[in-house]
Amino acid sequence: MCFFGWSIVKLDVVRVQSNTPLTIKPHPFTFIVLRGKHSQVLLLGPFAIKIFKPNMKLNTKKEWYFLRLLQKKGIAPRPYLKVGRFVVMERIKGTPVREMSAEIFKQHAVDFVEALHTLDMMGVQKEECHRPNRHFILTQKGIRLIDFERSKLRKAPSNVTQFLQFLNLHFPGIRKLGKPYKKTYQLAPIVSFIRKAT
Ligand SMILES: Nc1ncnc2c1ncn2[C@@H]1O[C@H](COP(=O)(O)OP(=O)(O)O)[C@@H](O)[C@H]1O
Ligand SMILES: [Mg+2]
Repeated sequence: MCFFGWSIVKLDVVRVQSNTPLTIKPHPFTFIVLRGKHSQVLLLGPFAIKIFKPNMKLNTKKEWYFLRLLQKKGIAPRPYLKVGRFVVMERIKGTPVREMSAEIFKQHAVDFVEALHTLDMMGVQKEECHRPNRHFILTQKGIRLIDFERSKLRKAPSNVTQFLQFLNLHFPGIRKLGKPYKKTYQLAPIVSFIRKAT
């Protein structure tokens, strides 16, 4: 329908579980609704709108706080707006780890580790870094991490060391570098282990 040059476009709604691979190719006005553990996430155009469950006020605050803290680092969605339990952020388009071939994952392992090292250096503990399947995404602009509602500020964060547990599946033996890393936070030995193995 078209009035004075304004077109009214019917919005489609597609509801999917958050573990469903997003292989559908919706048109730009399709609302995608993903059900997370603590929220529903609406994807529309360039925006992701995370609507937290009613008892999740603190999680809403934390998501917003950490997205703002990370906004200059280019590893998390850009934060746009927080209204009540709604957080509007940049929609990340790319391939999550669970949809990546082992080969592509291995090619980008250093990028993931570097993003997590950035968090370690900032004292941000993201949590769940040993389970990167849904929240670690490879985009055309680089690595992006999503879901910061349970993050914490920590003196000795362990994002990289948690991730080493997962990396060990692809790079057997890398896990043992976790202990020395925790003492110095030097990334070089981990990066060279990965480079030698690929
Ligand atoms: N900024 C975003 N861009 C694109 N997709 C997102 C974004 N934030 C969340 N999602 C999608 O929504 C799903 C659920 O979001 P998540 O933050 O994990 O919710 P919850 O913390 O409630 O489990 C994610 O697995 C992802 O598919
Ligand atoms: Mg979450």
